[in-house]
Amino acid sequence: MDQETAKIIINDNVHELPVITGSEGERGIDISRLRALTNYVTFDQGFGNTASCSSAITFLDGEAGILRYRGYPIEQLAEHSSFLETAYLLIYGHLPTAKQLREFSGLFTNHSMIHEDMKNVFKGYPSTAHPMGILASMVCSLSAYYPGIDLVDPTPKQFDGIATQLMSKIRTIAAFAYKKSIGEPFVYPREDLEYVPNFLNMMFSSPTRQYKIYDEVVTALKVLLILHADHEQNCSTSTVRLVGSAKANLFASISAGICALWGPLHGGANEAVLDMLETIHKEGSGIDKYIDMAKDKSSSFLLMGVGHRVYKSFDPRAKIIKKCAHDLLHKLGINDPLLEIAIKIEEKVLKDPYFIERNLYPNVDFYSGIIYKAIGIPKDMFTVMFAIGRMPGWIAHWKEMVEAPGGMKIGRPRQIYVGAKTRDFVPINKR
Ligand code: ACO
Repeated sequence: MDQETAKIIINDNVHELPVITGSEGERGIDISRLRALTNYVTFDQGFGNTASCSSAITFLDGEAGILRYRGYPIEQLAEHSSFLETAYLLIYGHLPTAKQLREFSGLFTNHSMIHEDMKNVFKGYPSTAHPMGILASMVCSLSAYYPGIDLVDPTPKQFDGIATQLMSKIRTIAAFAYKKSIGEPFVYPREDLEYVPNFLNMMFSSPTRQYKIYDEVVTALKVLLILHADHEQNCSTSTVRLVGSAKANLFASISAGICALWGPLHGGANEAVLDMLETIHKEGSGIDKYIDMAKDKSSSFLLMGVGHRVYKSFDPRAKIIKKCAHDLLHKLGINDPLLEIAIKIEEKVLKDPYFIERNLYPNVDFYSGIIYKAIGIPKDMFTVMFAIGRMPGWIAHWKEMVEAPGGMKIGRPRQIYVGAKTRDFVPINKR
């Protein structure tokens, strides 16, 4: 078959552009030479229609509600895989053998401690500091602790070490940030515990209290981490790629991704959902007022946890999380009125023409906060949990970008300038 092309006509001049086809049949018009050919650029605010790279990590079809990591459906990974196995899959592109997983897991265990000096940095934060701010700066600070390693161009072995240390240490930093906020002493990681139980122990044990680790809680948290592990070119991953494209090291690039994730329109939505559900519950006047407010164009209120830039039928992660929330609350014997409110909102949203016409459905964050709350994780740690889960995805994208055949290219979008035309400076006494 002939190579497909697209034609663009500008002032009667026809320009032919190549079409790139992905492995799932997705097609994109390659405009990389458009400016050179025509002196025009494309305009796409929010990049809703722009593929910034080609990637072999995650496939998602927002219309069909499909999400796959390296070809494996998210439903199968959530049910059968461990978080570390999924992390390995995302980063290295294939499922690990038993030996590979053992070695990978060993690297985590050996490096879960953070440098003792870093504990002093924690001391400098006020107890009211948001843990996402602490996490972002601590992850960037980690880069100071690898003398002699080329963090910009690590060898494959060095990369394995840095990547696993980052995933392992972020869990310790997150738990320490929480302990700092409640004024309790830090609990160190334990070599005998796996990834999720180790985190729970650092969060909830203390010198006077041994936290009992329930299998149901471990399973729920594992599922949440897997569901958050990657989501192709979302805001924070695009940030990691953009910062990394300047040859910033892995720690700096991921620290920037954490900052992007913090925003309530992205990873911060899980916190915002719980705020919204709590307000509705406290008011006690039902959900209709909030549904109406979300539909009212004169109000800036949005139903948090509803809508998604790419999922326009349903978010497959929300489906899994909804069931997970039900199962966990049932097993722990918790009757949470917020879950009832969430279910009622979902029912209304699915029937209301406003949301149907705009393809707005509950997203991954709609139910995740209810699970975190049931586990005892405080609201301002929700986005931190998201960051721990997203770590393998960010690392996989950074690796894919720096290893891209033909080398990587610094990210540098164009703009359409709409500001003042040239004018002469006026001295202050004449203005
Ligand atoms: N409540 C009410 N109306 C909404 C909502 C919502 N949550 N989301 C979108 N809309 C409306 C918009 O007002 C717009 O209406 P209009 O066409 O009449 O102007 C229409 O739906 C399309 O919305 P856009 O903003 O163009 O959709 P976009 O794809 O840019 O935004 C986003 C997606 C940011 C997720 C948005 O739906 C939103 O803000 N949702 C709430 C926040 C949230 O849950 N974020 C988490 C996303 S998932 C994640 O990052 C992990």
